[in-house]
Amino acid sequence: MSFSSLIKAALLTAVLAHCQRPPANYDEAKVPKYTLPDPLVLLNGSPVKDAKTWTERRRPEILELFRNHVYGRSPARPKAMTFELLSLDPQALGGTAVRKQVEINFTGAKDGPRMTLLVYLPAAAKDRRSPVFLGLSFSPNHAVSADPGILLGDVWVKGQKQPAAERSRGSGAAHWPIQTILARGYGVALAYYFTIEPDFDGGEKYGVRPSFPGFDWGAIGAWAWGLSRAMDYLETDPGVDPHRVIVHGHSRLGKTALWAGAQDTRFAMVISNDSGEGGAALSRRRFGETVADLNQRFPHWFSHNYRKYNGREDDLPVDQHMLLALIAPRPLYVASATEDLWADPRGEFLSLVAAGPVYRLLGKRDLETDRMPAPDHPIQTDVAYHLRTGPHDINAWDWDQYLDFAVKHLPPAR
Ligand code: GCU
Repeated sequence: MSFSSLIKAALLTAVLAHCQRPPANYDEAKVPKYTLPDPLVLLNGSPVKDAKTWTERRRPEILELFRNHVYGRSPARPKAMTFELLSLDPQALGGTAVRKQVEINFTGAKDGPRMTLLVYLPAAAKDRRSPVFLGLSFSPNHAVSADPGILLGDVWVKGQKQPAAERSRGSGAAHWPIQTILARGYGVALAYYFTIEPDFDGGEKYGVRPSFPGFDWGAIGAWAWGLSRAMDYLETDPGVDPHRVIVHGHSRLGKTALWAGAQDTRFAMVISNDSGEGGAALSRRRFGETVADLNQRFPHWFSHNYRKYNGREDDLPVDQHMLLALIAPRPLYVASATEDLWADPRGEFLSLVAAGPVYRLLGKRDLETDRMPAPDHPIQTDVAYHLRTGPHDINAWDWDQYLDFAVKHLPPAR
């Protein structure tokens, strides 16, 4: 066979594999009956009746199940990691913010993997420590704001890294209402997720994973690990209150934020925006995306073990309500959008409802209803949920709700 007919055959096989996947179910009547594993029963069958048993026995058990079956295991904080302040501007954004850019060299090696954390702190906080929203960005740092002081990053085009163009400054700003967040007394810290590991099948070799051989973890595990490394830096920043760092993310980065928040209890609050399958949504509820869809379209995201559950969600020893429960008793916000059926809004809502007993056991208020709220009517207790009108996205309205929730639970110091 010639090279071009080999390529054609490979393409045809890929197209057929795609077509053979069952179409997504969007019909409530066709959601099969399912039984969720009980977050409050130990693997040995005994019930969890108090906070101590949850914290010392059940929580570690569930965490281990997610490591073994879903996201994989991540390495510890590397001893040789370094932080380098690349730039500091005390008068950024028209004097409203202190801007820092910090290079986190994950292994300390000269040519090792590294990311640049962009940090804005409210200038008005003066020497008070600010609470901070930390998240990964879909676009390079210089695209989240038109601020000309942001170092120009790299972009990946067809698997190749190249310097970004000046004109791309601010092109992703709609996702990041930085001025609004600062005006409400919060700082913002972010990094481009591709700098931890580029997001394509085969991208692994350009990211952090080769530096830690012997771990079966996926890109989501690597990105979540990167958030914890950002937290390591934030703990050292005198302008940041390390007890009020809120980790958030949209979509695949919402899955990432949940996994980061589940593992790393230094995150004081967690926000999942439209995270869907493999994030907040229940896997056993077959609606929209499935485990097989995830593993086939994004084979680099999860652990190898997760592939065993393609079409076999009922055999998973966990479901995603248990991921949410790992965040308890810390405040948790789960959000969906009406047109984002692929992410299964109802499955995201029911997952938060099913994490409720763990919040209650730990003395917190859960959602206190199992009726989905009307669009654009958030429910906020010690956990929160909203269903925004519109498509798969994160917009200013979503951010307003997150800020209101943050002010209730982790207000800036006055
Ligand atoms: C795809 C994927 C989702 C993911 C989304 C995103 O739609 O199937 O699981 O959340 O991309 O990250 O935008």
